[in-house]
Formats: sequence, structure tokens, C-alpha cells
Amino acid sequence: MRKRIIRVGIVVVAVGAAFFLLIQIIPIGPRLTNPPVAAEPKWDSPQTRTLAKRACFDCHSNETKWPWYSYIAPVSWLLANDVLNARAAFNFSDWHAGDMRSAAMDAQINSGRMPLPQYLLIHPNARFTNAEKQQLVAGLTSTLASETVKPPSTAPVTDGASLLEARCAACHSLDRVKQAKKTRNQWAQTVTRMVGKGAQLNAAERSTAIDYLSKMYGP
Ligand code: HEC
Ligand code: HEC
Repeated sequence: MRKRIIRVGIVVVAVGAAFFLLIQIIPIGPRLTNPPVAAEPKWDSPQTRTLAKRACFDCHSNETKWPWYSYIAPVSWLLANDVLNARAAFNFSDWHAGDMRSAAMDAQINSGRMPLPQYLLIHPNARFTNAEKQQLVAGLTSTLASETVKPPSTAPVTDGASLLEARCAACHSLDRVKQAKKTRNQWAQTVTRMVGKGAQLNAAERSTAIDYLSKMYGP
């Protein structure tokens, strides 16, 4: 009986090890890349950039420092995924005016949601004192306040194109919208998500926007 348990144990360990080796060789999951830096925000001061670099650049820029363990699957899949999602939300190395509002930065930093807590465990250097936190928030606020982004207009608009111009371009460039290809359902979800972020659309405008988006930017 004991011998059998040992034999089963050996097989389990061997299969586990073989699987571990196999996932190192088979290329699945997103790649770890650092594309060239295209454009950064117009930083209000070098200090703001230094603070952002310290705590945000590993995920929200193309200057990610990939540590040795980031090359070992399955950790590599998780990290690459975080970085891809973070760069999709906004990328300090590929910045367009209005990509992210300072209120959103402020909320993420002050609530402690950003930098991601699991990241802070491994990168204690990215941990801020309260004073540094406020300095980064203030720095990002004045950096982003200098960008020319149209204020949201709440005048009634009935055609799709002007609706996007008036209500969507308030926070980010319409390129972000025009680059997307989504089904009607996906557009409905996106518009609902944007309303959650603060896009000003009543029910009628919402359906005008969804109609227009799925007609113009379908899959
Ligand atoms: C370990 C990776 C990581 C680090 C470091 C990090 N972020 Fe993020 N961030 C993400 C990911 C992933 C997302 C997108 C998914 C999400 O919203 O959770 C994101 C999303 C965001 C968003 C958008 C949230 C929304 O609701 O759209 C803001 C704002 C943000 N991060 C700010 C920051 C700031 C500021 C820093 C530095 C102080 C920072 N992040 C550091 C991974 C990171
Ligand atoms: C209050 C600010 C705000 C407004 C207004 C806004 N957005 Fe966004 N939008 C964001 C932020 C922040 C992101 C990036 C983070 C994310 O994707 O969650 C984003 C990302 C996107 C994306 C890329 C991500 C995805 O899901 O494909 C699309 C497309 C988009 N917005 C469409 C729209 C449309 C269409 C409108 C108008 C109906 C709109 N946005 C209005 C804040 C806003």
C-alpha cells in the first residue's frame, strides 16, 4: 500500500514537471513586448513623470521592466495580460490628449486600486507615502488639465455623428471609437460602460448612439 502511494506520488510529480516544461516551450498567452515609445503626455514637471514611472510605467507604458519570473509560464501569462489590459486603458508611451481624465487617476490612486495591490507586494519601491500620492495626483491633474479636450455639451443632439462629437470626445479622442469594431451587442455594452464612467446620454440618445456605432463600426 505504501509503495503504491509512493509510486502514484512519483507519477503525479513527473506529470506535473513535464506539464510545467511543456508550457515553457509552447508559445501560448500574450507576448512580453515593449513597442517603441510614440508620445508621452506633456508632463507638468519631471517629478510627476518620476513618480508615475516609479509606480505606473511597468504596466501603463511601453517601458515595462519584465523581471526574470515574467518569462516563466504561467506567471508570464498573468503578467502579460495585466500589462496588455493596462496599456489598453491608457498608455503613457502612446498618449493622446484626453486618453484618461485626471479624476479617474485620482480615484484609482486614492482608493488604493492603483497600482495593483499584488504589484506592490513584489515592488515595495512603488509604494507611496501619502505625500507622494498627493504629489502624483496633483501632478497628473495639472498635466492633464493643460490638454485641450472639448468639454461635454449637454445640448440635445439627434444625429449619431454629432452625438459622438459632443458626448464621447469629452474624455478621449474619437479615434478610440473609430478604431473599434464591435457587434451591436458589444456596442451596447460599451456605451453602458461609458455611461458608468460619466458619459452624458439619456435613454433616447443612448439608442441613437448604439444604432450609429453598430452601423458605422461593425465587425
Ligand atoms: C501591475 C500593473 C499595474 C500598475 C503598476 C498600475 N496599473 Fe493601472 N491598470 C492596470 C490594469 C490591468 C488596468 C485595466 C483593468 C482595470 O481597470 O482593472 C488598469 C487601469 C487603470 C485605470 C483605468 C480604470 C478605469 O476604470 O478605466 C487607471 C486610471 C489607472 N489604471 C491608473 C493607474 C495609475 C495612476 C498607476 C500608477 C500610480 C497605475 N494605474 C499602475 C494595471 C496596473
Ligand atoms: C467620462 C469619460 C468618458 C466618456 C464621456 C466616454 N468615454 Fe469611452 N472611455 C473612457 C475611458 C476612461 C476609457 C479607457 C478605459 C476603459 O476602456 O475602460 C474609454 C475607452 C473607450 C473605448 C475603448 C475600450 C473598449 O471598450 O472598446 C471605446 C470604444 C469607448 N471608450 C467608446 C466611447 C463612446 C462610444 C463614448 C460615447 C458614447 C464614450 N466612450 C464616452 C471614458 C469615457
